[in-house]
Amino acid sequence: MTSVSAFGPGRVNLIGEHTDYNGGLSLPFAIDDGVMVTATAIAGDRVEAFAYDFEEQDSFLLADPPRGAEGWRAFVHGMVAELAAAGHAVGPVRLEIAGTLAQGSGLSSSAALEVALGLALLALAGEEDPDRRALARLCSRVENEWVGAQTGLLDQTASLLGTDGHALRIDFATMETTSVPIDLGDWRLVTVDSGETHSLATGGYNERRAECAEAARLLGVATLSEATAEGAASLPDPLRGRVEHVLSENARVDETVSALHAGDLETVGRLLDASHASLRDQYDASTPAVERTVSRLTSLGAAGARMVGGGFGGHILALLPPDIPTPEDAHEVIPGPGARIVTTP
Ligand code: GLA
Repeated sequence: MTSVSAFGPGRVNLIGEHTDYNGGLSLPFAIDDGVMVTATAIAGDRVEAFAYDFEEQDSFLLADPPRGAEGWRAFVHGMVAELAAAGHAVGPVRLEIAGTLAQGSGLSSSAALEVALGLALLALAGEEDPDRRALARLCSRVENEWVGAQTGLLDQTASLLGTDGHALRIDFATMETTSVPIDLGDWRLVTVDSGETHSLATGGYNERRAECAEAARLLGVATLSEATAEGAASLPDPLRGRVEHVLSENARVDETVSALHAGDLETVGRLLDASHASLRDQYDASTPAVERTVSRLTSLGAAGARMVGGGFGGHILALLPPDIPTPEDAHEVIPGPGARIVTTP
């Protein structure tokens, strides 16, 4: 029997939110939690899939993955279809899926699933070392066209290209990536669940994306990262705020990179706070549950705290100085290695 397992990590975005689809900058890292997919070649003409976390299963014709499925099934259908359409030799297969990331948590359970499916299916097809940037684009297409979330390339790129101990500075205008060492000493980065899940397919995410496209059209730029402060100021609300967020967030990414290189973690904390304020006030991506969680972490002594990922719920990232104990409901996050094959065929 030919079988292969692949692990796709989730990600934490240190800073640079809602910039990926605006041709801007982000600074994510891969984390230890994620999704494991075991792919086993089977006889016949079908794909059999099992999602252990939900105790659900699925079965469909390899030649005709159905469109319009909900939840995890849409990712499986889309990955099988898009890999085959891109010319990869996907055969009849049994897929076993198990993860340690909650859906809608803002830690990229979706990308972790896509990436693990992609690496496992490709390895089974004899492609153990695929072009990871091309795979990131394929995963993003699945999310856009099969799941209905108009997300950018942040999550898949972080999951596929992340490296141990480093964040990844991504310039989405060029897709150039640079590894940035994360040396926190006795400080910690932690995530705390706001208690509210989000859906990128149905929440405010697609609306923000449409607003950014409209602002770019009005300003005559290809992406909002090419806009100027004067251009932003000329727009009506809420478009003005959307552009101002993108421009200031891009600047904060590079200020964070400089502060990390200088070992100045107080400044990193201040930049996280500024990012959160901009996402809340200019981008309107916060909720009462998110605000309560951020305020709690700040009053406990966090150097900075902000929503991560698409917003509208999900997890909060906080930077804790050495003398501040980790709150009971917080989970320390450490930059880990990117997606990988765990067993070879
Ligand atoms: C989600 C999307 C990403 C990105 C972030 C916001 O995680 O999947 O593409 O847009 O939101 O930065």
